Amino acid sequence: MRVGYLQYCPEFLNPEENIKKIEQHIKSYKEKNPQDIDLLVLPELALSGYFFADKEEVIKIAENIDTGKNIKKLHEIAKKYRINIVTGFAEEEDGNFYNSAAMLRRDGGKEVYRKMHLFAEEKKFFTAGNLGFPVFQLEDIKIAMLVCYDHFFPEAARSVALQGAQIICHPSNLVLPEYGQITTWVRAVENHVFWILANRIGTEKQGERQLTYTGRSHIVKPDGTKLAVASETEEELMVYEINPEEAKNKTVTPYNDLFADRRTDSYIM
Ligand code: ACM
Repeated sequence: MRVGYLQYCPEFLNPEENIKKIEQHIKSYKEKNPQDIDLLVLPELALSGYFFADKEEVIKIAENIDTGKNIKKLHEIAKKYRINIVTGFAEEEDGNFYNSAAMLRRDGGKEVYRKMHLFAEEKKFFTAGNLGFPVFQLEDIKIAMLVCYDHFFPEAARSVALQGAQIICHPSNLVLPEYGQITTWVRAVENHVFWILANRIGTEKQGERQLTYTGRSHIVKPDGTKLAVASETEEELMVYEINPEEAKNKTVTPYNDLFADRRTDSYIM
């Protein structure tokens, strides 16, 4: 299975341009590499950018997963290039707004995860996720989606790993130094799963305030090997061959199994 990330810098509040840019990245990659891409992860809020000044801006670009024209356009790209695409997007449903991730399947189906742990000012614009921590069957493997700040909560990754997730797709807009790239590596190792962190790059400004995104997207194997690490500043589409079966083995030593060794009789929840 060939999996990867697109690390890039979306243009703020310009989904049409961003979708063109995403397709251009896929097209140039495919021109040089004719093999399939089975799964490609894009950053959090990849169609719109992140640093909203007010809720009006969110309302302007948020889309319903079934009827949104830009999410549909991206889904057409997924079908055209035969790629299962996971992307962050601002979702609207019944007047509520979620910081969501969508899995747009190359065969036409789609799924949504809604960010459970809202970060900083996101709390002013978005409703916290209400779909729990779902795991989806994707062809013959199980995958899950988490969004950015969810990485701080080991319970989130554990919840999907215990349901059999072999790959965790992690659209992100990381802004704090180091944490995300370190904790996602730890989450991959402590759950023996593949982790695809698709972070963004660039700076967004709002008057005197600004947010700089930290890049360094990566693909981590269940044993902690990093297959790919992107730079802090450059756009990059990277794809690696993996064997998702490796994530089914939770053995650490002949005496230790990561899941069987858990002391659920004593943990405080
Ligand atoms: C984040 O959750 N975007 C830091």
